[in-house]
Amino acid sequence: MFELSSDTRVAEIQAESPAMLAALTSTGIYNDGDDAEVTIGNLCWDVGLNPLIILNMLADARKLDVPDTVDISDLEGLSLAEVVSNIETRHHAYLRKVLPEISQLLTRVVSAHGANDERLQEIDSLFTKMAGDLEGHLLHEEESLFSMIRDLADDGVVTPTRCGETVAGPILCMENDHNDMRRELAQLRELTSNYAAPDYACPTYRRMLELLTEFDDNTVIHMHKEDTVLFPGAKKAQAQLRESAGQL
Ligand SMILES: [Fe+2]
Ligand SMILES: [Fe+2]
Repeated sequence: MFELSSDTRVAEIQAESPAMLAALTSTGIYNDGDDAEVTIGNLCWDVGLNPLIILNMLADARKLDVPDTVDISDLEGLSLAEVVSNIETRHHAYLRKVLPEISQLLTRVVSAHGANDERLQEIDSLFTKMAGDLEGHLLHEEESLFSMIRDLADDGVVTPTRCGETVAGPILCMENDHNDMRRELAQLRELTSNYAAPDYACPTYRRMLELLTEFDDNTVIHMHKEDTVLFPGAKKAQAQLRESAGQL
């Protein structure tokens, strides 16, 4: 992983970080097809921008990149409806089980060690927010997009939901939620020093960190399945349906 500075070339970003590249092109100072050997510093100085502004933005975007190690091979050969079932079973059901477990452990750890470790209160607040957001997110997916996909698979139709008549509406909301979640996971890793147990940690504290690590891993895989397989698949299935119905 390269170190980000004003000497970083766009080619390095292109090779390693889709999220940073997307952030850079969104600024308009670099476009697809431009010379990738240019540095961030030169791009900024050419338009009178302080490179620090762009570098901070790129550092933030870097947190949204998905690690190469994420394995979603259990989706291979599955239909779109089967992908939905896989996600519900391995990720939604998992979250509904683990979120309350982690909350309970956190409450116990904060009351036992919170006075000596002020990070624990911050971890507790952040996790409580993430758990609440996830609860709404799962329900939103199940009631809108997942039901639309099952309709598509079973009847070749899409029944409008509270999010509109096409899969694109709920997908946009969900992609935004995923980006927020990736930022919050990055904060959680920072606050827990990548889930490392301090010397004084009791078994409850260690168990809490173990479950947080598992929650992080599972959520990264969960979002990667949705972003790279489910959402594009749903858009394609709806486009095919419209095409066959002569709506394009
Ligand atoms: Fe999901
Ligand atoms: Fe999701």
